[in-house]
Amino acid sequence: MAARVIDGKAVAAALRAEVAARAAALPYAPGLAVVLVGEDPASQVYVRNKERAAKAAGFASETIRLPASASQAELLALIARLNRDPAVDGILVQLPLPAGIDPQAVIRAIDPAKDVDGFHPDNVAALALGTPFLVPCTPRGVMRLLDAAGIAPRGARALVLGRSNIVGRPMAALLLAADATVTIAHSRTRDLAAECRRAEILIAAVGRAEMVKGDWVSPGATVIDVGINRTAAGGLVGDVAYAEAAAVAGAITPVPGGVGPMTIACLLENTLIAAAARR
Ligand code: GUN
Repeated sequence: MAARVIDGKAVAAALRAEVAARAAALPYAPGLAVVLVGEDPASQVYVRNKERAAKAAGFASETIRLPASASQAELLALIARLNRDPAVDGILVQLPLPAGIDPQAVIRAIDPAKDVDGFHPDNVAALALGTPFLVPCTPRGVMRLLDAAGIAPRGARALVLGRSNIVGRPMAALLLAADATVTIAHSRTRDLAAECRRAEILIAAVGRAEMVKGDWVSPGATVIDVGINRTAAGGLVGDVAYAEAAAVAGAITPVPGGVGPMTIACLLENTLIAAAARR
């Protein structure tokens, strides 16, 4: 039987509408500052989409663009200014940063109360301790997709493929907080296929086109594909060989139209959470 397709576009649209309605009821417009350093083409697209979504939700959004030649000191000075600005509730510095700027130093400089990416060590620690405040947007979006699809992590064997700070690690922490039995697999894992086959919930976040094959998927499993990989022909594919996996899985997210739209919706939600906690 073909898998049920989890429609991330629809779930994200509903969440964005809910965030916009909650923002409209506030006596102020939540403020989001997005910082882009340099001209990375993919980052430019992401930042433009974030700005557009924030404006559409009624937020006060500003995008600050620094040249690729900007120094770490200039970027830290900008962050210090945004930390002090009472109208700014959320600060997001788009990654990756140009060579010569230490991303960890930049992340540590952001006020944890305004860290809508959830990357600051204080927010990472809060999540690890099971008391999350601002959590990374993509894994948060995955949890919301599972919820919308009626898939309960409690007691389930969940496998997270990938251990990045942006997705894999916080994803595993969120699944654990939701009472799943969590395994993190990565490039050094022995027999990845066998690990994947044991999973009832399989989250692929490695950034390798169509790496997860159909016979890596347990019949009836839920497959969440976080990957966005550009093919030589200019198309987009995930980390999962979609057609093969969809023939075996119980539920699956497409690429595009799965996890991708959730990330921005959850960024708006995080900004609202940050605003509510500050004001
Ligand atoms: N680059 C790729 N994903 C992300 C993200 O979630 N946040 C930021 N700041 N940069 C990214």
